[in-house]
Amino acid sequence: MRVFNTIAETRKFSGQARSEGKSIGFVPTMGALHPGHISLVERARRENELVVVSIFVNPIQFNNTADLEKYPRNLSSDLQLLKAAGCDVVFNPSVSEMYPEKIERHYDFGALATVMEGAFRPGHFDGVAIVVHKLFDIVLPHRAYFGEKDYQQLQIIRALVRQEDLQVNIVPCPISRENDGLARSSRNERLTPEMRNAAPFIYQTLLNAQALATNAESGRIIEYVYQQFANHPLLKLEYFVVANSDDLQPVSGKIKPGSFGFIAVFAGDIRLIDNIKLI
Ligand code: PAJ
Repeated sequence: MRVFNTIAETRKFSGQARSEGKSIGFVPTMGALHPGHISLVERARRENELVVVSIFVNPIQFNNTADLEKYPRNLSSDLQLLKAAGCDVVFNPSVSEMYPEKIERHYDFGALATVMEGAFRPGHFDGVAIVVHKLFDIVLPHRAYFGEKDYQQLQIIRALVRQEDLQVNIVPCPISRENDGLARSSRNERLTPEMRNAAPFIYQTLLNAQALATNAESGRIIEYVYQQFANHPLLKLEYFVVANSDDLQPVSGKIKPGSFGFIAVFAGDIRLIDNIKLI
């Protein structure tokens, strides 16, 4: 496995692979890798001749400086995990390599970017789109793998690909969970033992919402979830939304097939997100 820190080396590798007709699978990450990330890498390994993984904590997608500063970084264990998963190339650039100058660009993803994470994390999706667009341009992947845990991000990337006519296939991958149901996340490392014990309540509540969903009105499900969190000592609900899985617009009235429940919860200053298909 090779580790590149520069855009030039990575571009050279990808250009060469492309000219030899080899397929490139790409998994963009911010490191602090867990089995959820590795499931994406393994899928890329099965479906492509070459696998490239990027590790870059992208400062411009953090709307909260403390979250950026406290974001976990474990490069040496990340590299071991990637090697074991059969990754060929790791692209691990510095911030100045990726952004030699201050970068500002605003994409228009319409209503897709104004709900949920877009509403609560201003500027977040511009930061994600800028870095993913740039990474695609460097890595030249045939396929790129994104987790459904960050469902709205996945839809934003699909919109980016359509808007910019990028020649890459976006492959969605299912949410990987701990045995107790908690969605795997790099931020879980920061939970105290008490918070970690409490956190499976998030997925449990989503499962209960799913059980209520057949024949129910979305307002009833939303009320149920808000009630569950109302007096929780450790978990603070930021939002729970019932939305259509394509355009992510809120569903009112009877829940329709293709409706998902999307949730964001704070445990102290640690923000966790999850989602579930309701029907
Ligand atoms: P990061 O949070 O490191 O996630 C990298 C990829 O792993 C994303 O596609 C994410 O959805 C996926 N992933 C994370 N946890 C997962 C889980 N439990 N199950 C399945 N997939 C999971 O998402 C980002 O980084 C960044 O925004 C990035 C796309 C790299 C741009 O900076």
